This record gives sequence, C-alpha cells and structure tokens, in this order.
Amino acid sequence: MSTVLKPALAPVFLALAALSASGLGGCSGSGVGLDDNGDPISGQTGTTPLSSDFDSIQANVFTPICSVCHIGASAPEGLILDAQHSYSLLVNVPSTEVPSILRVDPGNPDDSYLIMKLEGHAAVGSQMPLDETPLPASTIAFIAQWITDGAQPGASSQATAAFAVASVAPEDGDAVPEPPTKIVVSFTRDLDASSVLAQTVSLERASGPSGAPVFTPVPISIRIPAGDPRALLLTPLMPLSSGDYQVVLSGQAGIELGALDGSRLTQPLPDAQANRIIDRFSVVPP
Ligand code: HEC
Repeated sequence: MSTVLKPALAPVFLALAALSASGLGGCSGSGVGLDDNGDPISGQTGTTPLSSDFDSIQANVFTPICSVCHIGASAPEGLILDAQHSYSLLVNVPSTEVPSILRVDPGNPDDSYLIMKLEGHAAVGSQMPLDETPLPASTIAFIAQWITDGAQPGASSQATAAFAVASVAPEDGDAVPEPPTKIVVSFTRDLDASSVLAQTVSLERASGPSGAPVFTPVPISIRIPAGDPRALLLTPLMPLSSGDYQVVLSGQAGIELGALDGSRLTQPLPDAQANRIIDRFSVVPP
C-alpha cells in the first residue's frame, strides 16, 4: 500500500489506524452506551431524545452503541455506523451477509436487514449489538418507524454545503481484510442522474512494479441507490483480488459529475483535463 500512498495521505491513514484500534479495544462487550438495565443511555450525546428521526437514532443508538465495533477499515461487513457514514451505508444498500436483502428498505422495516439483526432473526450471524443486551423493543420500534416513514436523512445532513465528496467507504488509506462487495461514495448534494456515465467514475487496480504501478479499470456497475440521491454505489462485477485500488472521478468537461442544482464537480481541479483520485484503499487478507 505504501507504494500508492502519496505522502500527504499518510497522516490520514495513521489517524484511521488509531481510530480503528480504539474501536477494536471497545469490542469486548464493555456495554458502552447501555445503562444498568441494558437500556441505551438516552441523551448521552447531550441533545436529542430518542425518536423516529434519523439524527436521534444516530445520536442515541448508532454512535454510542454500534460504532464501538462498526468503525474504521475493519468495520464488520464494511458497515461503518458513525455519523459520517451510517446513512449512506444503510439506506438502499444490500447487506453483505445476505446480499438479496437491503440493510434498510425505505417503507419496509420487515424487509430491512438492520431490523432482522436487531430482532435476532437474520439468516446469518448473531443478534446486534453483538454479545450485548439486545436493544429494548421500544428502541427497535423507533428505528422501524423511521424506516416505515421512508428512512429520511436527518436535518444535520441537509445543511447546504458546496458540492463535494462527503465520504467514501472503504475510506481513503484503508487496508481492508475482506474484498469489499461495494464502494459507496456520498456527496453533499443530490446528484444529477444524467451525469452518471460509465466514464464519470471508475475503480482502478494497481499492477506492475511497486515503484511505478500501472492502474487499469476494474469492471463495475454504477448507480444512484433509489431513495439516497446523494450516493453512488459502485459494485465490482467480480470479486476484488488482493492489491491496491483507487476510485477516480472524471474531471473532463462534459463527463464530470453534476448535482441536481446544476453545480458540476470540476472544483478544485487544477486543470479541466485532470482526473481526480478520491480514494485509495488496499485489499490485504489477514
Ligand atoms: C461487539 C461488536 C459489535 C457491536 C457492538 C455491534 N456489532 Fe453489528 N456486527 C458485528 C459483527 C462481528 C458482525 C458480523 C457477524 C455477525 O453478523 O454476527 C456484525 C454485523 C452486523 C450487520 C450485518 C451487516 C451486513 O451488511 O450484512 C448489521 C446490520 C449490524 N451488525 C448492525 C449493528 C447495529 C445496528 C449495532 C448497534 C445496535 C451493532 N451492529 C453493534 C459486531 C458488532
């Protein structure tokens, strides 16, 4: 991986490594986020009581209870549940364990893998949170209600920001142990579907000498998941082998990504012909 990391990216990688190390340390079932009765400590983050609103579920459940394990490069099943990633990795994204089922299927809590995992009847793996007291039925009911209501994003993600990449999973600098079955890029504004072309975004794999790698495109399908107009879902058409990868956005006028409000993703490109690497990650089996 060091061969593809620009020096500027190295500190990012170190910070991520530290993050995921602390996340792993918390995975021993410490009960973080639960009170003596095993109920989530509501108001832990100070502000929002639990309701069927995404921000409230993030603040009361995903951040204090789930992101203890579901964080960083080694997040189980590639599901990162911190505030930055959880929405775009949950809503309309297929489960890794049972790819025919969406993690969150807006309008259909009973068909959402998230609910199956929380209630403990998913076909694969254990009830969540793993090795801890299950969430109270009332908490799961709030999450199910959020899904019934269409799984809307919270107010905090709707703040107006310049059109830019908001997050990518796997993250820049990640060394992931399992080949990711999908790469999710989320943006700060709703995307213009007509700007999503085969050349708009590509996944490339490094080959050749480590000092001078050659990057060649990997076959992928690209789509905006229904119900999450700020995300792009890249699905490799065959399993990714071990190696170094990069996600590249076109910077060429006419085939660059656009937002529904008309802004184009040409900034901050130094020149209009340059493509832009937004993510470099490696698949490194343990
Ligand atoms: C102690 C660590 C730990 C905690 C805490 C935890 N998980 Fe998990 N989670 C895992 C592991 C490990 C797996 C994969 C194995 C399995 O499914 O049992 C997993 C799998 C999942 C999956 C399946 C993902 C997929 O794409 O197939 C979902 C959904 C999930 N967890 C949600 C949650 C939620 C929501 C919470 C918080 C309420 C939570 N987890 C808390 C460790 C944890």
